Amino acid sequence: MPQRFAQISDPHLSSLEDARPRDLLNKRALGYLSWRRKRRFEHRPEVLQALQQDLDVRDLDQLLITGDLTHIGLPSEFRQAESWLRQLGEPCQLALVPGNHDSCVRADWDQTYALWRDYMESDQPAGDRAGIFPSLRVRGKLAFIGLSTACPKPPLMATGSIDQDQLRRLPGILRDSGQRGLFRVLYLHHCPLPGVEKWRKRLTNADEVQAVIADGGAELVLHGHGHRAHRHELATVDGTAPVIAVPSASALGLHGADRASYNRYSVTAQERGWRLDIDTRRYDPQLGRFVDDGIENLDIRRPGRQPSPVNP
Ligand SMILES: [Fe+2]
Repeated sequence: MPQRFAQISDPHLSSLEDARPRDLLNKRALGYLSWRRKRRFEHRPEVLQALQQDLDVRDLDQLLITGDLTHIGLPSEFRQAESWLRQLGEPCQLALVPGNHDSCVRADWDQTYALWRDYMESDQPAGDRAGIFPSLRVRGKLAFIGLSTACPKPPLMATGSIDQDQLRRLPGILRDSGQRGLFRVLYLHHCPLPGVEKWRKRLTNADEVQAVIADGGAELVLHGHGHRAHRHELATVDGTAPVIAVPSASALGLHGADRASYNRYSVTAQERGWRLDIDTRRYDPQLGRFVDDGIENLDIRRPGRQPSPVNP
């Protein structure tokens, strides 16, 4: 039987209508102006409502959310996002990594990420806040491995970085889940490939991150951040892995960004590898709902993988 999961990204679901002037005395002031001038017209609640109607989380082994739920990471936005997550599904069904907008400036943990903690945790919680990522959730033959790229950066910078603690722990997780014969889905906010994003939006240590993934192996890498759909490939020790980005889940596509879409994935074990079906759903503003936007089938060849007697 195939296993199913989906990825949405960058919903930017919060409103800043109630932001107070004293909340905006730092980098957040620029983000607030951008929201007032542009972003509140681009990221729309009606698109998110249509998304929620289109997603059937109960039919998925996991829904991955690759960051930027907020605009400027205010505690009030974290609370709005928490309510939205609770409506969407149970913590065991939704797996979240943060984005750069969520870590706009340094903020009190208890008022921000503590509210999302259940959605970020591994199956076996790490037990301290520093150790949440890399997260690992295993559902049947799927291993979902989450990385955090979110950390405060100077004004006008939308970069991200993966800290050394995560990079130390990642190789063991990739290797162990690979040896267990699992389909490894790595998900993060920024693109892990050097040179794909603009300098101002890049993952600062992408060279190092790419090398760790290439050495450890993965079957699929998913990210967001750029608000556009694209696909690249990453050569790993076990074979090639697609690297796929989806646009913002709430966007009307007003400023050259792609209109909202998301991907549903279906994974089937086959001899010497996996079959990956990708079903793209895109928002249609005329119909006010998400519609089919193409289906693709990829073979993820893994010559070293023996066919499973349970699921050939
Ligand atoms: Fe972002």
